[in-house]
Amino acid sequence: MAIFKRVLTLASVLGAALAQGSTAYTDEGIIFQGLQEPTHGVSYGFVLPPTTATGATAQEFIGEIVAPVANQWVGVALGGQMADNLLLVAWPNANEIVFSPRYATGYIQPTPYAGPTITTLKQSFNSTHWSWVYRCQNCTTWSGGSFDTNSAPVFAWAISLTAVFDPSDPTSDFNEHDDFGFWGEITANAHSDDYNTYLNGGTVTSTPPTTTTTPPTTTSSSPTSTPSAPLASPTPYDYIVVGAGPGGLVTADRLSQAGKKVLLLERGGPSTGETGGRDVPPWANGTSLTRYDIPGEFQAMFGSSGPSYWFCSDINTFAGCLVGGGSSINGGLYWYPTDLDFSTDRGWPSSWSNHDQYTQALIQRLPSNDNTSPDGVRYLEEVFPVMSDILTPMGFQNITLNSNPNFKDHAFGYSAYNFQNGKRWGPVATYLQTAQPRSNFKMELYTVVTSVARNGSTITGVQTNNTAIGPNGFIPLNPNGRVILSAGSFGTPRILFQSGIGPSDMISLVQQNAEANAFLPPASDFIDLPVGFNVQDNPSINLMFTHPSINAYDNWANIWSDPVPADAAQYLKDQTGVFAMSSPRVNFWRATSGTDGITRYAQGTVRPGFDSVTTSYPYNASQVFSITTYLSTGVTSRGRVGLTSSELGAGALTNPWFTDPVDKSTIITVLEEIISAAAKVPNLTLITPDNTTTLTDYVNNYPTSSLGSNHWVGSCSIGQVVDENALVMNTTNLFVVDASIVPALMTGNPQGAIMSAAEQAVARILALPGGP
Ligand SMILES: Cc1cc2nc3c(=O)[nH]c(=O)nc-3n(C[C@H](O)[C@H](O)[C@H](O)COP(=O)(O)OP(=O)(O)OC[C@H]3O[C@@H](n4cnc5c(N)ncnc54)[C@H](O)[C@@H]3O)c2cc1C
Ligand SMILES: *[C@@H]1O[C@H](CO)[C@@H](O)[C@H](O)[C@H]1NC(C)=O
Ligand SMILES: *[C@@H]1O[C@H](CO)[C@@H](O)[C@H](O)[C@H]1NC(C)=O
Ligand SMILES: *[C@@H]1O[C@H](CO)[C@@H](O)[C@H](O)[C@H]1NC(C)=O
Ligand SMILES: *[C@@H]1O[C@H](CO)[C@@H](O)[C@H](O)[C@H]1NC(C)=O
Ligand SMILES: *[C@@H]1O[C@H](CO)[C@@H](O)[C@H](O)[C@H]1NC(C)=O
Ligand SMILES: *[C@@H]1O[C@H](CO)[C@@H](O)[C@H](O)[C@H]1NC(C)=O
Ligand SMILES: *[C@@H]1O[C@H](CO)[C@@H](O)[C@H](O)[C@H]1NC(C)=O
Ligand SMILES: *[C@@H]1O[C@H](CO)[C@@H](O)[C@H](O)[C@H]1NC(C)=O
Ligand SMILES: *[C@@H]1O[C@H](CO)[C@@H](O)[C@H](O)[C@H]1NC(C)=O
Ligand SMILES: *[C@@H]1O[C@H](CO)[C@@H](O)[C@H](O)[C@H]1NC(C)=O
Repeated sequence: MAIFKRVLTLASVLGAALAQGSTAYTDEGIIFQGLQEPTHGVSYGFVLPPTTATGATAQEFIGEIVAPVANQWVGVALGGQMADNLLLVAWPNANEIVFSPRYATGYIQPTPYAGPTITTLKQSFNSTHWSWVYRCQNCTTWSGGSFDTNSAPVFAWAISLTAVFDPSDPTSDFNEHDDFGFWGEITANAHSDDYNTYLNGGTVTSTPPTTTTTPPTTTSSSPTSTPSAPLASPTPYDYIVVGAGPGGLVTADRLSQAGKKVLLLERGGPSTGETGGRDVPPWANGTSLTRYDIPGEFQAMFGSSGPSYWFCSDINTFAGCLVGGGSSINGGLYWYPTDLDFSTDRGWPSSWSNHDQYTQALIQRLPSNDNTSPDGVRYLEEVFPVMSDILTPMGFQNITLNSNPNFKDHAFGYSAYNFQNGKRWGPVATYLQTAQPRSNFKMELYTVVTSVARNGSTITGVQTNNTAIGPNGFIPLNPNGRVILSAGSFGTPRILFQSGIGPSDMISLVQQNAEANAFLPPASDFIDLPVGFNVQDNPSINLMFTHPSINAYDNWANIWSDPVPADAAQYLKDQTGVFAMSSPRVNFWRATSGTDGITRYAQGTVRPGFDSVTTSYPYNASQVFSITTYLSTGVTSRGRVGLTSSELGAGALTNPWFTDPVDKSTIITVLEEIISAAAKVPNLTLITPDNTTTLTDYVNNYPTSSLGSNHWVGSCSIGQVVDENALVMNTTNLFVVDASIVPALMTGNPQGAIMSAAEQAVARILALPGGP
């Protein structure tokens, strides 16, 4: 069973722990071997007697805790977890450090523990810190355990920003810690020939009077206070949500709102300034307006360097690996889903036909906005009248698109965004902000989930690369706890494969990877589900035109390093102007019937500027705009995603575009209609394809790398990989809530529909019996 395999591999914790092991430092004239923990500024130091010591002397040590005053109590576990280890807890009370050895048999309030003899050697207090040097005798072994005094055992620390219930009482109960972590205490380097000198120094010091407190010898009865979660981890959670993209943020917020203890794990780092991101363009230096905050930087998103984590280097297509996932790096187009998007025709279970209430819940949290500059002025809108001249004669109506989501045939209007206040907004500025202050919610960044650990069909926790939050990176679930994968269309399948869930060819690639193979369950527990199949992404084709009225905005060149000074200054002043919106200005939709009789929807997205122009005739680059035409709901082509090799990179295995030729002939029909309508607009010139290339040749020769739209859905389709409650089939407590459960392309760019689907999925998960 995976869970036993994991226990065996705990030996390798040593290597991992050493990577963040203790170091030597000097304080109070003593050379300690210990951890100077940076987040809370607390030092945990240890000195052991010489290795030649025997008897009782070999079972003691000198320790210290130096803590900024915000830390109201501090604990250490002389073993890598809270349960069944000797714990030492200390806090300041008036001008005295109160301390208490503790012990817990599980993740409950640790009770005072008789056995150790603890003596204060030095204590000091000033306006910023409290500090305590102590002698701990009979402390290297305890009931059922010990630590290795000549190696690098895993120790754990915990801090609380809230005082114990009765600071004057060493046996006081206290609430759960606010934070904790692990380190490798290199006891092999902690022995000192000066040990006795240090002990004596403790009695001749000139620092405040030494007090000796008798260690409590009573064992208190069962806790009367709120049961406490682990003092020194690994903390078990009710719900572990993997991935802080649109799916994961909605899910984690709703679960924590319902009072569940939620851990949100994200492999990348911060994005917007609000989340701690500092990836600021040079023209905004000194502000916290990052590339992820400034909508107008979208066209430069993948064209300038940033922190290494954000673009998912192990996925061979564009994706965002940071707080917000794709929503922090995408174009921001935001559409309320249509009824058809959640219909049985599109592959949804019939029980999802009540979907509108969930879309309304989303809209309440995150309304759309088609005029995103806070001054109300529309900037760079020259494409709108030109598009109106093309589309109105074709019978299109100019509407406020999100006011009538179901009107998607011959409709056009202003592009709608999830931006507010002139900034990228989305789930990061809404759902994450309500989750974050809750004490039952915690987000850990830079934490890659590689697999879920399971005992047969029941998930017991997640395996991560973060050894600071769980021994060997393992984080357990509470009894009846649940894991929700929201790692996106590529990330979620990869975790499933590494957990022995998916087609055998994918699991076999995992088996060929020695590191990942170690965490696979036994083959008899593999679950063969069509993970990675049934995938769709919109095929899309660009048309490029020139028109004398257009301002191509220098094709968005230099917006990172050297933007139009007046526009940059205006945005810095009050977040208004060109930079308050990303590049699209107009969207349109029409339904069309293919030669197979199937209705397919086509979407147009229109923006000033262009990708690549192919004409050999001269053209004025300052007057170019692009119409990107995608085929959406009704598309019949399907592809496959998965692992590209035993290195476990992820990507498309079969491209999902135009595998059905009727998709291609349908988009050609739509493009032909646009081109012939455009030909009637004075001074409008089609430059790509130009009049030397037929449209069919243009589409046939279109570079595959440009055909997609980054709107991948379906790799864990509802009804095929997950059931109507988003539960992974043949498991009891593993769920998927992200783009991958969406069984068919949505009518518009998908993030709105994904978040709305997450609203329904998380409501179902909370309602499902048997949970935490
Ligand atoms: C360039 C680009 C432009 C786009 N433009 C638009 C647009 O304008 N409008 C629109 O609606 N949609 C757009 N999209 C698509 C949209 O962003 C995605 O459909 C959406 O973000 C998917 O949401 P998700 O929650 O399923 O996954 P994601 O957004 O991919 O989020 C998954 C998260 O999980 C994390 N993760 C992955 N694996 C692990 C792991 N093993 N451990 C821990 N964390 C992990 C990732 O870092 C990421 O944060 C665009 C996408 C791209 C790439
Ligand atoms: C040492 O502690 C143990 C409990 O861990 C206790 O049983 C034992 O009596 C103690 N020994 C001494 C000498 O105090
Ligand atoms: C307060 O105490 C801490 C820890 O002992 C020490 O580092 C710091 O310098 C002290 N500050 C002052 C102002 O003495
Ligand atoms: C940003 O400003 C700081 C000083 O305020 C300067 O040191 C730094 O070089 C500037 N960075 C850029 C990219 O201009
Ligand atoms: C389109 O409709 C909007 C209101 O939704 C209006 O402001 C705009 O002037 C209209 N444009 C055209 C060209 O009809
Ligand atoms: C885990 O992986 C992430 C993403 O690659 C990385 O940022 C982080 O540093 C890794 N953590 C450890 C402890 O190796
Ligand atoms: C695994 O599950 C079985 C029941 O399916 C149970 O008997 C067994 O104790 C579990 N093992 C572990 C290690 O939890
Ligand atoms: C899933 O469970 C069903 C019974 O509930 C069983 O028939 C099927 O074989 C299982 N599938 C896999 C892949 O384990
Ligand atoms: C190109 O277009 C710009 C903007 O409309 C215009 O100012 C310029 O004169 C044009 N150049 C030529 C050569 O027509
Ligand atoms: C087309 O452009 C010419 C000059 O290039 C101009 O004189 C004419 O008014 C334009 N026609 C329209 C309908 O915009
Ligand atoms: C093709 O378009 C160019 C300008 O883009 C024009 O000069 C040329 O006359 C056109 N040729 C035909 C056959 O229409």
